[in-house]
Amino acid sequence: MGYLFVNFKTYESGTGKNAQSLAKLLATFSADAQIIPVVQAVDLRLVASAVPLDVFAQHMDPISFGSNTGAVLAQAIKQAGAIGTVLNHAENKRDNEFVKLATMRAKEAGLKVMLCAETPKRAKELAAFSPDFIAVEPPELIGGNVSVSTAKPQVISKSVDAIRGVNPKIKVITGAGVKTSVDVAAAMELGCSGVFVASGIVAAKDKEAAIRELIAGFK
Ligand code: G3P
Repeated sequence: MGYLFVNFKTYESGTGKNAQSLAKLLATFSADAQIIPVVQAVDLRLVASAVPLDVFAQHMDPISFGSNTGAVLAQAIKQAGAIGTVLNHAENKRDNEFVKLATMRAKEAGLKVMLCAETPKRAKELAAFSPDFIAVEPPELIGGNVSVSTAKPQVISKSVDAIRGVNPKIKVITGAGVKTSVDVAAAMELGCSGVFVASGIVAAKDKEAAIRELIAGFK
């Protein structure tokens, strides 16, 4: 079954009570895809307690228990009911040292990790940290209507090859502008295990239709 990671970002329709409602809607499609809401840290408990889906955080910091005011702690993410975290999203970029340490902290806490990479070169570097997933997302296509699988299929295939060369156990995901079943099917054809979608669902007028359309790409 393909992975559909849904990044709620800080969209109004993906925040607080709306995040919970959207996650409930996503859960109604769980027979057709492995659906993973990726939500703001403050909404993790609200969402994770409401749906039988695996939930991811959008970010965390490479810290341990102690004096770290305002930081996001791996153990707190876990206790809130999430099973994993995203790191180094294009909208929250960090250097490799940060990503390496945060990945270690996440694993110590028993969290799964998805690292985001903007290029095949970065994907190869991040693969050395043995995350569970690497999401390949060209930043310039994020939020647009032209998908990565249409505009930059070579970025996906090069990343798939680079990541497999380092660690074939890492699942490759792709995102940026993914809006249709054709985009999803093309990503799977290029060797991905799933897609990472935000605006195509969270900002869609008819969210149910948008989810149905995307999921059709896994069949
Ligand atoms: O995290 C996924 C995201 O960056 C892609 O955004 O709006 O292009 O689906 P979007």
